[in-house]
Amino acid sequence: MIIAIDGPAAAGKGTLARRVAEALGYAYLDTGSLYRATAKKVLDQQIDPDDEQGCTVVALNLTPTDLKVAGLRSEEVGQAASKVSAIPGVRSALLRFQRDFAANPPDGKTGAVLDGRDIGTVVCPDADIKFFVTASTEVRAERRFKELREAGEDVIYARVLEEMRERDERDTNRAVAPLKPAEDATVIDTSGLDADQVFEQAREIVAAKQA
Ligand code: DC
Repeated sequence: MIIAIDGPAAAGKGTLARRVAEALGYAYLDTGSLYRATAKKVLDQQIDPDDEQGCTVVALNLTPTDLKVAGLRSEEVGQAASKVSAIPGVRSALLRFQRDFAANPPDGKTGAVLDGRDIGTVVCPDADIKFFVTASTEVRAERRFKELREAGEDVIYARVLEEMRERDERDTNRAVAPLKPAEDATVIDTSGLDADQVFEQAREIVAAKQA
């Protein structure tokens, strides 16, 4: 069983994916962390995020340890991840790992939940269940703002909102694997919902599929 959960930044897809995976005993892969880890190395090695070849080499040489380094969730790394993820070589370098994870979930698990931008459209177009989790830009910026403040980052809301718009624009309009709902995805707008309500909606759909 493969469950694909796509959507823009801070829509709540990570929280939902983690909860769904836990409830079903499935493996969970946050595919954004692959792009973030690539971006972090690119920044650390002072490679230009527009240098397609340099970024592709970094993605090709990514190791499991790179996914565990501190600082992957920062806004700076998120923006750089959005840039490097528009490079076709980076995307194809990371594709096989994601497909392998979905086809052979680790630890003998019988299913996998992957969240990202292109899981239902490109990585796992045959996924059994697809969700597209979204929310208004303002609600998402507010959530990200609180998250960053709680993590001790000195941010202002207007700037977070602006960066959210920039990131949406880049992720949605890139030529390769742009952010968009798969035709057969169930869209969940989380703007007025809390995490429990989102989980409940998803749980009903999963239960109907399993019946
Ligand atoms: O979900 P996130 O904020 O951790 O993702 C960081 C960036 O990585 C996002 O702006 C676009 C890119 N990304 C992608 O292109 N495809 C994915 N499947 C996941 C993330």
